[in-house]
Amino acid sequence: MTHPLRLGIAGLGTVGVGVIKIVQEHEKLLSQRAGRKIMVTAISARSRSKDRGVDLSGMAWEDDPVTLARRDDVDVFIELMGGENGPAKASVEAALAAGKHVVTANKALLAHHGQALAELAEANGVNLRFEAAVAGGIPVIKALTEGLAANRITGVMGVMNGTCNYILTRMEKSHLAYEEIFEEANALGYLEADPQLDVGGIDAGHKLALLSAIAFGSQVDFEGVEIQGIDHIELADIEAAQDMGYRIKLLGVAKMTEAGLVQTMHPSLVPMDSPLAQLEGGTNMVVIEGDAIGQLVMRGAGAGEGPTASAVMGDVMDIARGMLIPVFGQPAKSLRNVTAVQTERETAFYIRLSLRDQPGVLSRVSAELANAGISIDRMRQQSHDETDAAPVLIVTHMTKPATVELALKGIAKTGLTMSTPVAMRIEAV
Ligand code: NAP
Ligand code: HSE
Repeated sequence: MTHPLRLGIAGLGTVGVGVIKIVQEHEKLLSQRAGRKIMVTAISARSRSKDRGVDLSGMAWEDDPVTLARRDDVDVFIELMGGENGPAKASVEAALAAGKHVVTANKALLAHHGQALAELAEANGVNLRFEAAVAGGIPVIKALTEGLAANRITGVMGVMNGTCNYILTRMEKSHLAYEEIFEEANALGYLEADPQLDVGGIDAGHKLALLSAIAFGSQVDFEGVEIQGIDHIELADIEAAQDMGYRIKLLGVAKMTEAGLVQTMHPSLVPMDSPLAQLEGGTNMVVIEGDAIGQLVMRGAGAGEGPTASAVMGDVMDIARGMLIPVFGQPAKSLRNVTAVQTERETAFYIRLSLRDQPGVLSRVSAELANAGISIDRMRQQSHDETDAAPVLIVTHMTKPATVELALKGIAKTGLTMSTPVAMRIEAV
């Protein structure tokens, strides 16, 4: 048997503790499968005295993650602190420069610095692996870089933030407003330290940018992701969507077009009977389309101690077996710097209007839609109380977002709307 693989872990929170548990509880299984012993030699976190509920005896302690990253008795540096800069970036750079393999769950770090870190890793002949950074326990990075390596990928889409999915599904089930369910998710500890990363769609945008890089051989372009969060979603839309046969999901879509790379992370409607609509709570789903494979759907736990630690250890096992894989599936220097383009992709749209309840309003709205070139698939006026605002739901035929915007401007000019119209894409995934 070759010498043991020695791990240094910086960050002993949810994921770090989960990794230590797997190493300890599956010691024999891991060494049988890897052909060598896997052990944790050194650790770091902010507080040395905190009880973490796992046995840390025999592991050297470092206050400074950068020092940990450079230790001679560490072969693989595992970064589980989080944050796009600060100690996470400094320690990952130090480890790579010192010729150590790195495994991280940190999507923010890679979404912002992925290209430079990948070049550093490859210049030093080491791995930089990040399976846990995207869709928790789902091995989607491995699927794209390895199993699907012979495919031309035509599209990647999915639900990649468990917290948003939890909030949206709980709103539908409880009929409670966003603000109340946000507080519930907060009390359950689901939200990132900065909740805007979750509900603002940023965390999911980070993940989509990482998947796009592998799928399309392009440099990570987080700035190019068009992002809308779920913090403006009203219960009225969740219920109206349901009424029309849809569920609202925070859906990421990435496609390479002739004009450039389109990456969107938007709340979107999906048909009630589609696989995406069945996702409950913190579950994630990633859909990959390749020219040879067709459509591949992967579903599983998107977060939490066990699933995320499982993904981290999957990367560790590959390293233990001697695998060396380009960070984004091809040499980092060969990744293309592509143009990010606004999506002009046609889909059906859902539109909710609150209109003055007076004769002729529906025909005025229909005329504005027709003027913009939008054809209506379905239109429904919901019953309403004695207030004079009439809720009207519209499902359009295929059209472009810019066309919908034009139509909504025209409708606003009629003076018949009583609140800001809502429009969302309907995705037929
Ligand atoms: P967490 O529970 O908040 O733990 C963070 C750990 O990092 C803590 O142990 C903390 O130390 C330590 N830490 C923070 N700043 C540090 C510093 N300056 N120096 C040394 N240690 C420091 O976070 P987590 O949920 O485990 O997440 C870790 C990473 O995994 C993040 O990048 C996150 O986005 C990613 N991730 C998490 C999940 C999930 O389900 N939790 C899923 C996918 C990806 P103390 O404990 O002493 O405060
Ligand atoms: N905040 C993230 C989520 C954690 O809710 O999906 C997993 O990346």
